[in-house]
Amino acid sequence: MNRISVWFIRMALIYFIVAASMGVLMLTWPWWTRTYIPGHAHLNLLGWVSMTLYGVLYHVVPKHSGRPLYSKKLGWVHFYVANIGVWGMVLYFGFVGHGKLEYGQHLLYSAYIELISVIIFVFNMMMTIRVVEEKN
Ligand code: HEM
Repeated sequence: MNRISVWFIRMALIYFIVAASMGVLMLTWPWWTRTYIPGHAHLNLLGWVSMTLYGVLYHVVPKHSGRPLYSKKLGWVHFYVANIGVWGMVLYFGFVGHGKLEYGQHLLYSAYIELISVIIFVFNMMMTIRVVEEKN
């Protein structure tokens, strides 16, 4: 398995433990629920689910299309940007928002960073698939 996949899956597994722990934390101390819900939800969906999919797709798409990934460099940029974005979102959702729904600019910056990572990933995958279509 390529190193980009391995690192995405490693990070996804770590985020799964942290996000699940936040869920149990909410059940144990319900008064924290309002603070932790958005962080828990986004760490689960962007950290655990999306990063598992990234790891699997970086492995499966090149392997089964018979074509190399369009850009490994973009793949690594995607890895770092996606991780910075998800940390930013979880921290600013949970610890700055404190359930007041006044998240401020930092959450917005983190959300933009996360969106950029998504666009980089989609571009890289689209370009990999495009080469396959041209061949057939
Ligand atoms: C040990 C595992 C988990 C525990 C203990 C847990 C617990 C919780 C709790 C207590 C809430 C707040 C519910 C409320 O009071 O409204 C919540 C919300 C949520 N959880 Fe989890 N959860 C777990 C795993 C997951 C996973 C794996 C996902 C997604 C892949 C997920 C996605 C969500 C979402 C999206 C919300 C927000 C729902 C809403 O705002 O209506 N959770 N979870």
